[in-house]
Amino acid sequence: MLNDYQQVRQQTLALTEWLSAEDMILQSMPDASPTKWHLAHTTWFFETFLLQPHLPGYRVFHPSYTYLFNSYYDTVGDRHPRPTRGLLSRPPLSEVLAYREYVDSAMVKLFEQAGDKHNDDVTIGLHHEMQHQELILTDIKHALSFNDYAFPEPAPAEQLPASQPDREFTAFKGGLTTIGTNAESGFAYDCEQPEHKVYVPDFSLRNSLITNQEWLEFMADGGYERPKLWLSDGWARCQREHWQAPLYWRQTEDHWQALTLHGYQQVDPLQPVCHISYYEADAFARWAGYRLPTEMEWEVAARNQTIDGNFSGSGRWHPQAPAEKGLTQLYGDVWEWTQSPFLPYHGFQPPGGALAEYNGKFMANQWVLRGGSCATAKAQLRPTYRNFFYAHQRWQFSGLRLAR
Ligand code: AVJ
Ligand code: FE
Repeated sequence: MLNDYQQVRQQTLALTEWLSAEDMILQSMPDASPTKWHLAHTTWFFETFLLQPHLPGYRVFHPSYTYLFNSYYDTVGDRHPRPTRGLLSRPPLSEVLAYREYVDSAMVKLFEQAGDKHNDDVTIGLHHEMQHQELILTDIKHALSFNDYAFPEPAPAEQLPASQPDREFTAFKGGLTTIGTNAESGFAYDCEQPEHKVYVPDFSLRNSLITNQEWLEFMADGGYERPKLWLSDGWARCQREHWQAPLYWRQTEDHWQALTLHGYQQVDPLQPVCHISYYEADAFARWAGYRLPTEMEWEVAARNQTIDGNFSGSGRWHPQAPAEKGLTQLYGDVWEWTQSPFLPYHGFQPPGGALAEYNGKFMANQWVLRGGSCATAKAQLRPTYRNFFYAHQRWQFSGLRLAR
């Protein structure tokens, strides 16, 4: 467990190696946080939930840090307002890095003294840190999108051979089926539990993700101009924010470019479309004559597949074209919007203590996304993993797959 701990903590720092201290204090919108804040908050998590309760004689690194780096835990106390995290020029990055080392040494002591005793909570801390690794990437992409002089191109990793995306559908037999997990065979968040029965009618899923090529067809056919294709809330948002293309797209004289974490690139028609809201995914599905899958359908289709794909470890940090035909890219590349609201499963029980606030209190007005993205750590993914965001949000690596 100590090995896992050190590896995940190290991975977080490795993801930030290409950033300057100035980059790391930027906050470009209330939904996103500065890199420096993520580095401190994930550390605060171990200090608050492992070291303070369980390491005898542990002294907190700094008494103000609970206020500064508590994200949303009312059980823990007051906190610095989220929208102004970007105003925190202090503590400086050097002190946040020292905080990480201080907590990491104390964690070594805790492992020495308590052995395996707190493994369950350490595991949550590591999965929590991996969630923030993804947020570090999505949030810095948003922040740097306001900088013209950004992305001095870290070497793009090798591309897999691309194949023409397979527009066929794969049929699945419906029936009474088991969804979710009891986490006996490995870690899962509370919101994935308990295992329970649901009825899923027969359905089919599109083999490939929806591509940029198809998104350009949607745009050319007035996708962003025809209110009839949109949910009312989505159309209001589309007009208010002048949506004309996915987030991070810009038009040059003769083509569209998309911002990637390696700079602007010409939109590749074979790649999965990315950075779209639920509203756009829903409008596209209506335009195409299909619908979004439910999260149960997605889970039925994905649970027999090996968890393999384009995750953050590849360093590409951008979705790529499918390498083969058939039902592909369920894992990695882009999170897939589902038509399922993020609600408690039948029999849901939040854990005791402050971690009761981890997922349960967000079960209103958000939609489930499945499968992970090119910014997700592979170790986070399972067939039962439920991500969730608000319908208008676009800055995650989110795309779609159709169902019928
Ligand atoms: C599951 C990505 C919506 O961003 O609030 C981070 C992840 N939970 N710290 C979020 C999370 C606690 C969560 N999302
Ligand atoms: Fe968090």
